[in-house]
Amino acid sequence: MALVGAGPGDPDLLTLKAARLLASAEVVVHDALVGDGVLALIPESAERIDVGKRPGRPTLQEMISALLVELGHQGKRVVRLKGGDPFVFGRGGEEAEALAAAGVPFEIVPGITSSVAAPAAAGIPVTHRGVSAAVTVVTGHRRAGEPDVDWRSLAKVGGTIVVLMGVSQRASIAGELMAGGLAATTPVATIESATTEAQVVGRWTLAELAAADVHSPAVIVIGAVAAFEFTSVPSSLSALIATAD
Ligand SMILES: C[S@@+](CC[C@H](N)C(=O)[O-])C[C@H]1O[C@@H](n2cnc3c(N)ncnc32)[C@H](O)[C@@H]1O
Repeated sequence: MALVGAGPGDPDLLTLKAARLLASAEVVVHDALVGDGVLALIPESAERIDVGKRPGRPTLQEMISALLVELGHQGKRVVRLKGGDPFVFGRGGEEAEALAAAGVPFEIVPGITSSVAAPAAAGIPVTHRGVSAAVTVVTGHRRAGEPDVDWRSLAKVGGTIVVLMGVSQRASIAGELMAGGLAATTPVATIESATTEAQVVGRWTLAELAAADVHSPAVIVIGAVAAFEFTSVPSSLSALIATAD
């Protein structure tokens, strides 16, 4: 059994280890966010089980964990394929916990997380000398019964904020960050379906984020680095970087 990160979408961003495990898998249990190009690498002979959680078709996490334990006990070569990295908002920890409790041996194969790959695909470095010395990766998804992110405190941390699962809450996130002290003019980038043919990059200010035309799955990058695009440096930032160096 292997809990494998599938990367952000582009099959070329799969690790060699993930590709090797996929090629010899007997069963592949995958999420909705795993890219079609990666799914195409699953051998015909392998059983493919789609447990993707989609609107209107929730799959209980407990059922997925129970399925993995059952498959593990059967001794099959199982790849549990998850978008990005399994341990970055991927609930890989819960599955690892269930497997460990059931005595099923497993390994963890990290993947390239969308929290850095999506910004990179838009030419945005999440840290940059003289501009951003920290990056906070945070979920925008509100779950009943769990404490909400303290956005106003986050606004004071400095550096880059990368929000996953934040599209539907983008208005309140922007409002809270501004209430916490972030300037309305703070650059924001949204990267939808990063590293796939459907990739769309949007550039905004924090004040514009609430009304921004953006659709899931998307990564939201908030902070000075969000103004970067590939290797060209916006003139407002070149002065800042020159001073810092
Ligand atoms: C449940 S989280 C899983 C994150 C994943 N484990 C990772 O490391 O990238 C799902 C969220 O990841 C982000 N995401 C994943 N793949 C993406 C992609 N190709 N483009 C943009 N956002 C993506 C979106 O914010 C999406 O709502």
